[in-house]
Amino acid sequence: MSKKKRTKPPQDGFSRRDFLKGAGITVSTGLLPVPGAVAARPEDSSEVLGPGAVPITLNINGAARSLKVEPRVTLLDALRNQLDITGAKKVCDRGVCGACTVILDGRAVYACNVLAIEAEGHKIETIEGLGTEEHLHPVMAAFVDNDAQQCGFCTPGFVVACKAFLDKHPNPTLADVEHGLGGNLCRCGTYAGVREAVLEAAKTLKGGHANG
Ligand code: FES
Ligand code: FES
Repeated sequence: MSKKKRTKPPQDGFSRRDFLKGAGITVSTGLLPVPGAVAARPEDSSEVLGPGAVPITLNINGAARSLKVEPRVTLLDALRNQLDITGAKKVCDRGVCGACTVILDGRAVYACNVLAIEAEGHKIETIEGLGTEEHLHPVMAAFVDNDAQQCGFCTPGFVVACKAFLDKHPNPTLADVEHGLGGNLCRCGTYAGVREAVLEAAKTLKGGHANG
């Protein structure tokens, strides 16, 4: 069987939206319907189609988590459906909105665009690993202070993206923030608050108040 080419996460210093635009990449785990085509049905519906589940171990927030996944399963589905790590949200499921953002080896990536088997051997950070209710990460605290959320559905992805952004850009300008967070969408329109939160968190982190 030939090896499938895997989608790489976007590179540093380059917004994820730019990367996706430039590469023209969309990743879908479903099959697009072909006009006029009739779907073939196995005579025996219990027949196994495709590769079965394989054992993998993922390094998530510093802990080794073992699970079995079919090769088609995304990191997002593995986190949410098998490991009950549900902070990363499933909204578009096709690399557009950023609600599923996690950090992979220091880079913000869309967990819906990464296969779980690709993530083995890499360091994965999710919103659950950034802080706790008692000890909020400075980015989390700044979101609260700046009223940077409404329904909150995009918020975990935004917070994770902001953390990854500030790790690489500790002294951002407003323009840097706007560009760097271009890969996350908020239907409630909290962008002004998010930008203020990132600038405030940058100051807090420079002051040595980080706990993450
Ligand atoms: S759910 Fe992954 S980018 Fe929207
Ligand atoms: S706060 Fe509702 S989608 Fe962003």
